[in-house]
Amino acid sequence: MKGHVVVTGGAGFIGSNLVDTLLKDGFSVTVIDNFSTGFRRYLNADNVRVVQRDITCAKPDDLAVDFVGAEAVYHLAANADVRHGWKHPRLDHEQNLVATLNVLDACEKADVPDVVFSSTGSVYGETREIPTPERAMFPLQTSLYAASKVAAEAFLQAHAAAGRVRATIFRFVSVLGPRYSHGHVFDFMWQLRRSPDRLRILGDGTQRKSYMHVDDCVAALMSLRPAGDLEVFNLGTDGFCTVSDSATWISARLGLQPTYEFTGGDRGWIGDNPFIYLDVSKAATAGWRTRKTIKESVEETVDWLVENEWIFDAR
Ligand SMILES: NC(=O)c1ccc[n+]([C@@H]2O[C@H](COP(=O)([O-])OP(=O)(O)OC[C@H]3O[C@@H](n4cnc5c(N)ncnc54)[C@H](O)[C@@H]3O)[C@@H](O)[C@H]2O)c1
Repeated sequence: MKGHVVVTGGAGFIGSNLVDTLLKDGFSVTVIDNFSTGFRRYLNADNVRVVQRDITCAKPDDLAVDFVGAEAVYHLAANADVRHGWKHPRLDHEQNLVATLNVLDACEKADVPDVVFSSTGSVYGETREIPTPERAMFPLQTSLYAASKVAAEAFLQAHAAAGRVRATIFRFVSVLGPRYSHGHVFDFMWQLRRSPDRLRILGDGTQRKSYMHVDDCVAALMSLRPAGDLEVFNLGTDGFCTVSDSATWISARLGLQPTYEFTGGDRGWIGDNPFIYLDVSKAATAGWRTRKTIKESVEETVDWLVENEWIFDAR
């Protein structure tokens, strides 16, 4: 048996894939989740200690009890829905920033040395530096989601600089694969189940995205650590596709030929980045490689959603 780790948000899409890999690797795992968007069925309670707790409202002392004995906390719990930020303008602040501060306080109380944080490539806003390296400036935040992640990163950096914790911050692109439950593939398939002949695409379909497979994401979360107290790694695929490319792959995988209806404009919603493509050479130099292409990731996601139609009713 390897050591013990905590995964916040471990019942979610990325978190539950991470938990499975940690268990396969011999770690013992505690999951902390409020099940707001996660699912109990993703966790095997025989192997995992599951604590149902809302980290935003949790007292650091209570969280610290959950953390005792852990060598690392993978902090993935968050509101991961970028698109609907303005419908609930306080949500990103509470779920993504306040929750992170609670995790940091609890780490200190429980003497947890390492925090692994899931940030986002959206922090770069609409940077003109593409592919975007970690050292790129953040010229303008365009979503409440990214703004909350920038703030959370800043607190992690300050805790690391004070020597209170070792922090690994991962800024990743949109992730695809088994247990995927939110994002454009989900939306497109939800529509096509209802109307196989028509597909409404937000924006003009030319938005360029660099989707990554969840297995590649999990491999990085588990293997990359800082040389010192703090490191930031971009994670993404070495390439990009357009949203229309993805729509074509999804339709073909389903054997459909829908008519596309574009809502127009070069972005799908407020805060949608028309071109996201991260420079991942730093993670590559540290030994990480993606194994799945964007098309393979899209197709695997489609196949999983076809086999798991329950999720369309559950969301
Ligand atoms: N999915 C992506 O494409 C993507 C891209 C970049 C970054 N991220 C980040 O990765 C992380 C995981 O994203 P995901 O796609 O798996 O999302 P998800 O919604 O599937 O998982 C989030 C999990 O956190 C739990 N949770 C939310 N708020 C909580 C709270 N206050 N207390 C306890 N549990 C809480 C949810 O129930 C869920 O199980 C998030 O931090 C997200 O911002 C995701």
